[in-house]
Amino acid sequence: MKLLVTGGAGFIGTNFLIYMSNKYLNYKFICLDNLSVKESNNNLEYLKKYKNIQFIKGDITNEEFINDLFKKEKFDAVINFAAEVAVDYSIENPNIFLKTNVLGTAILMNACLKYKVDRYHQISTDEVYGDLPINSKKKYDETSVLRPSNPYAASKAAADILALSYYRTYGLKVTISRSTNNYGPHQSFRGLIPLTIKNCTYNKSIPIFGTGNNIRDWIYVLDHARAIDLILHNGKIGQIYNISGNSKRTNLYVVKKIIKIMNKDNNLITYVKDRPGHDLMYSINSKKIENELSWNRIYTFDKSIIYTIKWYEKNLILK
Ligand SMILES: NC(=O)c1ccc[n+]([C@@H]2O[C@H](COP(=O)([O-])OP(=O)(O)OC[C@H]3O[C@@H](n4cnc5c(N)ncnc54)[C@H](O)[C@@H]3O)[C@@H](O)[C@H]2O)c1
Repeated sequence: MKLLVTGGAGFIGTNFLIYMSNKYLNYKFICLDNLSVKESNNNLEYLKKYKNIQFIKGDITNEEFINDLFKKEKFDAVINFAAEVAVDYSIENPNIFLKTNVLGTAILMNACLKYKVDRYHQISTDEVYGDLPINSKKKYDETSVLRPSNPYAASKAAADILALSYYRTYGLKVTISRSTNNYGPHQSFRGLIPLTIKNCTYNKSIPIFGTGNNIRDWIYVLDHARAIDLILHNGKIGQIYNISGNSKRTNLYVVKKIIKIMNKDNNLITYVKDRPGHDLMYSINSKKIENELSWNRIYTFDKSIIYTIKWYEKNLILK
């Protein structure tokens, strides 16, 4: 099987590629990335150790390049991680989010149709459902209405709807997964957890938006990779699967936990002006993937956050 993994040098893409290349030694993986994220260049150092992963630099919004690549490589499946992901940047500069996240998705799916690629999987996010009040017990499922709050989430929701339309109109064998907040090795230092670890290491102040009471549901990145593997091989075509970490924590809790593990002081925390439209709490249930594909998490937050801190402490020098 030959798989195209777009955005494969990014945080989740790198972890997914390492997981898959160890598990499926006879598969070939093409990692396509434009390396627009600084840390993705460092991730290439790790990916090049795997013989069944080949890296190609390129942009998913370059239609001519994508068509040439598909014509030459004859992929069996495409998994699209490539996206602009920084919510703050999407508030300042929404257009690039529409270009990469929506048009880029269309260009990849058009190429799948043109060059008869059998499977297309779209990596999406719980942010497409929008937020809930902090004390709400509600959890969104795959049938819930999409109410994205910021241009990033809106562009991801648009790509999901487009993908479903390609299934219905053209019969493209599409699946979609919507996971909660990932943590683990190989993430860019824009993320709350790597930034906190880095700033603790260098005794620098740790910025927290507003009161820090916004809640996110944290999933260890390899539990996400395991879920995508299952959906790719056994998921029902035309379906959406939520992937929840079932591990909700306030941002303040997460930061204080890292400070404590790293033996630093809470006075490193600096509260900064909240972002406009900042989502309060994301909450989804993933009963569908648990019941239909027997997926469940195997990593706990308390253990995996320690492993994650150790990984960054060891590898910070590379960043
Ligand atoms: N990080 C999370 O917590 C999280 C949660 C749910 C869903 N997601 C989704 O997972 C996917 C990956 O996110 P991530 O956190 O690994 O982000 P990331 O920024 O680390 O990875 C994205 C990668 O895509 C590449 N890229 C960007 N634009 C591109 C383009 N036009 N052509 C080719 N490559 C391009 C970047 O260089 C980067 O390596 C995204 O689709 C995101 O929406 C992320």
